[in-house]
Amino acid sequence: MNDKRAVLSALSQRWLTGGPKTLRFEQSFAAQIGVKYAIAVNSCTSALHLAMRALNVGPGDEIIVPTLTFVATANAAILCGAKPVLADVDERTLCISAKDILPKISARTKGIVVVHYAGQPCDMDEILSIAKKKKLFVVEDCAHSLGAKYGRHETGSLGTAGCFSFYPTKNITTLEGGMITTDNSNIAKSAMLLRNHAMSRSAQNRESIGNWYYDVMDLGDNFRLNEIQSALGISQLRRLRTMNAMRARAARVYTKILASVKGILTPYEAGKRTHAYHLYVVRVLKDEFGLSRDELYTRLVQRGIGLSVHYTPLHRLTFYKKFVGVHGNFPVADKVYPELLSLPIYPAIRMKQIEYVTEQIMKCQASP
Ligand SMILES: Cc1ncc(COP(=O)(O)O)c(C=O)c1O
Repeated sequence: MNDKRAVLSALSQRWLTGGPKTLRFEQSFAAQIGVKYAIAVNSCTSALHLAMRALNVGPGDEIIVPTLTFVATANAAILCGAKPVLADVDERTLCISAKDILPKISARTKGIVVVHYAGQPCDMDEILSIAKKKKLFVVEDCAHSLGAKYGRHETGSLGTAGCFSFYPTKNITTLEGGMITTDNSNIAKSAMLLRNHAMSRSAQNRESIGNWYYDVMDLGDNFRLNEIQSALGISQLRRLRTMNAMRARAARVYTKILASVKGILTPYEAGKRTHAYHLYVVRVLKDEFGLSRDELYTRLVQRGIGLSVHYTPLHRLTFYKKFVGVHGNFPVADKVYPELLSLPIYPAIRMKQIEYVTEQIMKCQASP
């Protein structure tokens, strides 16, 4: 109900885009993450692209990204004319492997994009120490990890910049939307400029000073978030803690029940990290479970359960193999990929539904 009221109030404002709600959403978001700047954009894809632009990524540069991610993580570098270099993932966290970053660094490497996969923070101490030694930037792809913490720090406040998604399945939604977080004023200024066609003055600014003129400072784009989306974002952000607690509770119930199922490996729980549980990803170990991931997927879908696989590793997708020329060995990603299964998780999931999912998993195992 609060969401609906918030959306309606934005509809009756004078400025429908680039107005006060977006500014307020940015301020609340920066406070939530614990950074100086938050810049609202229309998707995480745009946030990643703008972060690369603001960090002067261009032709000849190499950017290290994990192979187990959504395509947007790597595409941001490609859109700037740079080359993504894929790294393998860590078998515990399923996030980028700090060990595999080192051999991927060349004289052309400019930065690393890490992905807090499923909502699980990466091994940031190790990654930040490598980046510092090698003078590389670290962009955190936080599409899954709003509210996740590494020690006391929110993801999105640890690296050079963070990029968030507000797609409907994410921890909060603005239907479509994204945010860049940073403590770096140059990155913030550049992102703010480029999201609005690199125009020297916004429409509101021109109106307030009574001067129609603007200059164009660079090649920009329209990556703006509108006022209705921002109003929804403010309302959703107020409930983030509650909604993430509901996700965490659901995850605990899954983990408790599935602990007794042979061949189902539940998500890694690391001491100093708070998982945001955007996804609840298990591994189906065929030899022990008795069915492969694909066999289990088909049977559960037939029983009305909505499932997914996150993700086919990038090095197995046609575009990256054929046109980007990615290469290398990814033994962990290749090992875990056929085992990954994302079970239903969202704040309003009921215990009965979790019991149904886990019961069906057990039934499938009992009659393979
Ligand atoms: C890891 C990751 N990065 C980036 C994105 C892109 O987000 P958006 O849909 O907001 O552009 C997604 C989308 O699901 C994602 O999962």
